[in-house]
Amino acid sequence: MSSAHTNDRQLEEAVMTQPMPCILIVDDELEMRQLLRELLEEEGYQVEVASDGQDAIDRMGHRDFPVVLTDLRMKGMGGLGLLEHVVRAHPETNLVMMTAFGTVESAVEAMKQGAFDYLTKPIKTDELLLTIKKALSEALLRQEVQQLRQHVTREYSFDQILGKSKPMKEIFDLIRRVADSQTNILITGESGTGKELVAKAIHFNSQRRGAPFVPVNCAAIPELLLESELFGHVRGAFTDAKTDKRGLFEEAQGGTLFLDEISEMPMMLQAKLLRAVQEREIRRVGATKSLSMNVRLIAATNVKLAEEVKAKRFREDLFYRLNVIEIRLPPLRDRREDIPLLVHGLLHKSLSAQEKQVEGVMESAMARLMDYAWPGNVRELENVIERAATLTQGNKITLDDLPSGIREITGEGQIIEDAAEHVMSLEELEHAYIRRVLEKMGGNKYQTAHVLGIDRKTLYRKLSEMEAKA
Ligand SMILES: Nc1ncnc2c1ncn2[C@@H]1O[C@H](COP(=O)(O)OP(=O)(O)OP(=O)(O)O)[C@@H](O)[C@H]1O
Ligand SMILES: [Mg+2]
Repeated sequence: MSSAHTNDRQLEEAVMTQPMPCILIVDDELEMRQLLRELLEEEGYQVEVASDGQDAIDRMGHRDFPVVLTDLRMKGMGGLGLLEHVVRAHPETNLVMMTAFGTVESAVEAMKQGAFDYLTKPIKTDELLLTIKKALSEALLRQEVQQLRQHVTREYSFDQILGKSKPMKEIFDLIRRVADSQTNILITGESGTGKELVAKAIHFNSQRRGAPFVPVNCAAIPELLLESELFGHVRGAFTDAKTDKRGLFEEAQGGTLFLDEISEMPMMLQAKLLRAVQEREIRRVGATKSLSMNVRLIAATNVKLAEEVKAKRFREDLFYRLNVIEIRLPPLRDRREDIPLLVHGLLHKSLSAQEKQVEGVMESAMARLMDYAWPGNVRELENVIERAATLTQGNKITLDDLPSGIREITGEGQIIEDAAEHVMSLEELEHAYIRRVLEKMGGNKYQTAHVLGIDRKTLYRKLSEMEAKA
């Protein structure tokens, strides 16, 4: 309620502070230009004049005109040439065409090509004023809607991150506050909650934005290569080191190094990373000299790092160094009020890539999307929307366009109901759930472990237990 109110007020202010709208008159006859100028100025309009189509185009490059009033036939570029330019380059402008008596066909042609209206010469003052008024108020209304739309996206998003729920607004706030500090940041949250998006938002809102944002996925690089990837190496440091090589820390100088899936970093490298962070120095593998480091570290993880510390799989001292500030991204199921906004935003994104017209989502389909548990969080939602946008044949996404798993299972509550119905033990429920997620992730054990919030070793152990039981 209150935000709708704010929108109105801010919109009014935006409109009030706009410069007075100005009308562009285009005619090659000096007398005609003067006559029209007088008529419109008398009504209180601001007016500028141009002597042909090209002159008008030049003026439109310097100033916005909500309305252009142009003659059809002129020496130099005529009205239709100008109309073509306006439709293409200034779609927000309404063009009114003046045609000579008896040339209705050209007026019709102009309307077909996108003119707002036409007037036949000799011009009747009443008719002229009425048409200009209509053209102007229509153009201004369109501008207001546009501004309102931009305002809404600004209020409910931060860079690319959409969210209107309380926890997401707090996260936007936190990003703003930490961006310019130098502290290291740990971003935690389940798979697909937007950790990388937040890391980028921090970088691009900090003073480091002019320097690189360098992401490293610690889980994707083989253990043996990770050290030289991160720190670089000198020639001859090991058999394959044929030349000197800069590491990712050096690539990120002045900017941000994003250490994704930090829990997967081997112990040996954790020690080296800790040293780099403490001494603010990096040393290439095999080098004797160190380089001073000016890099902000943002680490991310979807496992509980504190538990990794307890299990002695992650160094406690490094944990505290990285976790100066923690940004915790809540799972999507805990902020369902973000779902409609995300659905529309992601649909828009997917459509602009596909050049397809889909207006929105049927209420029944939206209800199911709101109800579903989203174990893969926003990434899963993004995939579902992209699929639906591709499949749908009408102008709205329907239940039939959703994957069967979402159409049929109605949310977390239903899963529990079903389990209770079958009187399942916790272990049976766990095994059933693991099988379901594995199937959903197309058999990818790495992603499955992510979604389940367990490490791969635990998943393998559970899978072999399940196999033994089967
Ligand atoms: N709040 C959001 N608004 C818009 N898009 C989002 C939002 N959160 C996530 N996404 C989109 O969802 C996808 C997954 O986000 P991202 O890669 O940042 O997740 P992640 O937490 O790093 O996941 P993982 O742990 O699996 O690496 C991306 O395509 C991202 O653009
Ligand atoms: Mg990620």
